[in-house]
Amino acid sequence: MKEPEIIVLEDGGAMAVRAAEEIVHLSGEAICTHGQFSLCLTGGNTPAPIYELIATRFHLSVDWNAVQLFWGDERCVPPDDPASNYGMAQRTMLSKLSLGSDQVHRMRGEDPPEVGAQAYSELLREQFGLEQGEAPRFDLILLGLGNNVHIASLFPGQPALHEKTRLVLPVEVDAEPSRRLTLTLPVINQAARVMFMVAGEGKAQAVKAALQGPRDPERFPAQLVAPAHGEVMWVLDKAAARLLG
Ligand code: 6PG
Repeated sequence: MKEPEIIVLEDGGAMAVRAAEEIVHLSGEAICTHGQFSLCLTGGNTPAPIYELIATRFHLSVDWNAVQLFWGDERCVPPDDPASNYGMAQRTMLSKLSLGSDQVHRMRGEDPPEVGAQAYSELLREQFGLEQGEAPRFDLILLGLGNNVHIASLFPGQPALHEKTRLVLPVEVDAEPSRRLTLTLPVINQAARVMFMVAGEGKAQAVKAALQGPRDPERFPAQLVAPAHGEVMWVLDKAAARLLG
């Protein structure tokens, strides 16, 4: 894997604009080369202004008819729950767009977790035309970074970090809501591109550990993101990048 590209912006607002610009650029590249843009969204708070920007300021720069949206993880709550990652994307982005239901593929957090995980694995197989044992290749997977260096809902010390075959797992994590669904590393590391979006002083230690800490993926799951045939980009603000050498 190539070295990650690290882009540092002045502040959170500039980071959000640059991340939105990257998403728009990659959508155009993917649609030009293979007629579709498969974008895997992340949850949490950081992406909210970015999703808002691509649905407003950058709305006309994306060929939305060729976009397919997926999620990298979801909390095991109904879609209208304030903690839902789908719900956050709905409020910030989807409500401003007119995507068809066949373009938006949410994880069903309202179902029993094992049922939701299996259903999403099957959805990925159908959408990407996969044989058993194959992982989907997303054009772009968006990731945030937890203060404990988790990605998606892959937390330190979890058995899910070592999953080699299943595409989606139900997990119990040390955060609320604790029950979640998450893509596994075989999926994340099959992506053409992974873009981390991280802002704020509170993430500086986690960014340092992920990028320049001792090699310890059990403690620092973000270190496991290494697409064999893909690229990794980090879009940071100065505060989050403060400890990088
Ligand atoms: C989630 C995300 C999670 C998030 C990080 C960072 O479901 O919460 O998938 O991995 O990206 O926890 O969250 P913030 O952006 O809120 O700091």
